[in-house]
Amino acid sequence: MGFSRVVLLGLLLLLSYAWTGEAEYLKYKDPKQPLGARIKDLMRRMTLAEKIGQMTQIERKVASAQVMKDYFIGSLLSGGGSVPAPQAPAEAWVNMINDFQKGSLSTRLGIPMIYGIDAVHGHNNVYGATIFPHNVGLGATRDPNLVKRIGAATALEVRATGIPYAFAPCIAVCRDPRWGRCYESYSEDHTVVQALTEIIPGLQGDLPKNYRKSVPYVAGKDKVAACAKHFVGDGGTHGGINENNTIINSRGYSAFTCLLTITQSQRVSQLSWSLTRVGMGGKCTQTVI
Ligand SMILES: *[C@@H]1O[C@H](CO)[C@@H](O)[C@H](O)[C@H]1NC(C)=O
Repeated sequence: MGFSRVVLLGLLLLLSYAWTGEAEYLKYKDPKQPLGARIKDLMRRMTLAEKIGQMTQIERKVASAQVMKDYFIGSLLSGGGSVPAPQAPAEAWVNMINDFQKGSLSTRLGIPMIYGIDAVHGHNNVYGATIFPHNVGLGATRDPNLVKRIGAATALEVRATGIPYAFAPCIAVCRDPRWGRCYESYSEDHTVVQALTEIIPGLQGDLPKNYRKSVPYVAGKDKVAACAKHFVGDGGTHGGINENNTIINSRGYSAFTCLLTITQSQRVSQLSWSLTRVGMGGKCTQTVI
């Protein structure tokens, strides 16, 4: 097609658009399109600034509807104790989040933001929420079904404040009680920790039969996306030093990786790895990430 014909075609399209007054068809906003096609379409439209913004998660303290709009921020979080007001009721949370969301939806592409919070033993930052025991206490029950029901109850309360994303569960296997955060671990025994990851279908809902693995899934408006944290090898750091170096062999490593397929997200950060078999580090980490 010659240049003049391309220009002509463009002109015709522009005119027909002006005549009908109809909004442009946006494939990425069409729920009937396959997910992959929608993502491809959206990525094609995004500027570098929009991509950088979408990859950024900021704290609610520094956020506003205007910041969301100006910087195309993809995600927000409440850090520990970061609340809209002291003793804020659920309604105050919902209003705050809706306000941020309005900023995101008013951008050129209208990509909604996702808000996440550390709902680690119930919706523990929220005044009046049901508080459940820390993981060390839940681990002592050895009861995956109970823990799953706690996940479902937590998801319900998190959604009631307008939040679709919980930074839970912590699947650290605390191998050294000198680690000051040992109480965040279900057990020093990885089989107990694995059994209690039953909290994940509690938070996210059960996967339907034949659901394609590795595709994100949240069952409905009373469920949240979960996040296995803090990082593979967390709880196994040398000397129990927080966020330090985990020394492990490749067998121990593979025990962790099975978990990664079932959560919506996995935190990638915070500590370093030393695999005892030289040469495994890069390969394993790349595979997991
Ligand atoms: C681990 O902790 C030691 C002692 O505090 C520190 O010197 C070192 O940099 C830490 N290593 C990592 C990878 O964080």
